[in-house]
Amino acid sequence: MSTKQPEVGVPTAAVQGADASPRWKILSVVGARPNFMKIAPIAHVLAKRSDVQHMIVHTGQHYDANMSKVFFEDLEIPEPDLYLGVGSGSHSVQTAKVMMQFEEVLLQHQPDMVIVVGDVNSTMAATLVATKLHVPVAHVEAGLRSYDRDMPEEINRMVTDAIADLLLTPSRDGDENLIREGVAPERIRFVGNVMIDSLLKFLPKARATRAWKQFGVEHGNYVLVTLHRPSNVDDRQHLSNLLEMFGKLAEQLPVVFPIHPRTRKMISEFGLKHDFAGLQLVEPIGYLDFLAMQEGARLVLTDSGGIQEETTILEVPCLTLRNNTERPVTVTSGTNRIVGQDIAVIRQACEEVLSQPKPAGRVPELWDGHAAERIVTELVDFLVHRRQGSGKNG
Ligand code: UD1
Repeated sequence: MSTKQPEVGVPTAAVQGADASPRWKILSVVGARPNFMKIAPIAHVLAKRSDVQHMIVHTGQHYDANMSKVFFEDLEIPEPDLYLGVGSGSHSVQTAKVMMQFEEVLLQHQPDMVIVVGDVNSTMAATLVATKLHVPVAHVEAGLRSYDRDMPEEINRMVTDAIADLLLTPSRDGDENLIREGVAPERIRFVGNVMIDSLLKFLPKARATRAWKQFGVEHGNYVLVTLHRPSNVDDRQHLSNLLEMFGKLAEQLPVVFPIHPRTRKMISEFGLKHDFAGLQLVEPIGYLDFLAMQEGARLVLTDSGGIQEETTILEVPCLTLRNNTERPVTVTSGTNRIVGQDIAVIRQACEEVLSQPKPAGRVPELWDGHAAERIVTELVDFLVHRRQGSGKNG
């Protein structure tokens, strides 16, 4: 991938030189860090099909190199065909900017289908635009619900699933949630977890990085922390209590905490103490290094969604610092435990994990490294049936 930031709204060579005669044009939308590991395996499968022209549109919701570019490199994703450069803003501003620019993209490129992944603002914005222009949308990672409407992602999931045409679910609970909401079963396909395709493919390469060495910690003997949810980082007192708790934990075991930009900003705005011995606040790290850091951790503390899933497959104990999860299978089958936001409860749970041997999780159904193949089969099947239904020649 070139180091040059693609020019906003200008098609890159991949589009200009694309085969003029594939049967289908499919356009994928990515915007934020958790999208990249989901689109990578789909892009790799689509690249092998001569009947599909695949374009990747990056909205630019995440724009720092260590939140975006490094993931394209690590995951071997082709350079985005279009970069919208929307950047940061309030939820409404960010959503509106994606919508305005993505509408232009759809009008210009006229795809047969749009793929959206996950639950970020870019996911919902692109879905709204495509649906209104009657371009069918496939939502990868459909059906997940935390039932917590204070989370912006929950609103994004609900809106996206309400209007997308094809709902591709990662776990059975996703299907059940959608059915309970009255979604027609014909719109739902259980395909498994595509993020695990990336994990299984890149794990050997990730292990080889021995990333823990960069932080001077020993494999199997440190705690890894990530935090970025508004519920944890936007309240001064709570964030301060958490940092102090990590500091205490670091007296026992080294703690490595790659800091999300939102969290870095809040720590600095609140002027919070974070220089505890043994607690390392480091810049966000790339996909391969972070996978290695997860696998080597004795314990992971997080409020992320994807990390609950990755630790399940890596069989590393995970404590989720939230009151709920949209990924219950990581608790029922995996190594995850929802510990809420009470500092004493979190501390107690850390003690329990550290005093017990590493748990063994069960691999959830269809988290097998082949979700992208099933997804692409469903997409093409959908397009074939749609064309037949509209009476056009396939
Ligand atoms: C977004 C997603 C969330 C996902 C998370 C993972 C939504 C609603 N939220 O949250 O689901 O779990 O990404 O990272 O879409 N910033 C930078 N550099 C960047 C990106 C962001 O400095 O490259 C700053 C922004 O200026 C802003 C803050 O980080 O102050 C939040 O960014 P934003 O994309 O709005 O949401 P996230 O909190 O990252």
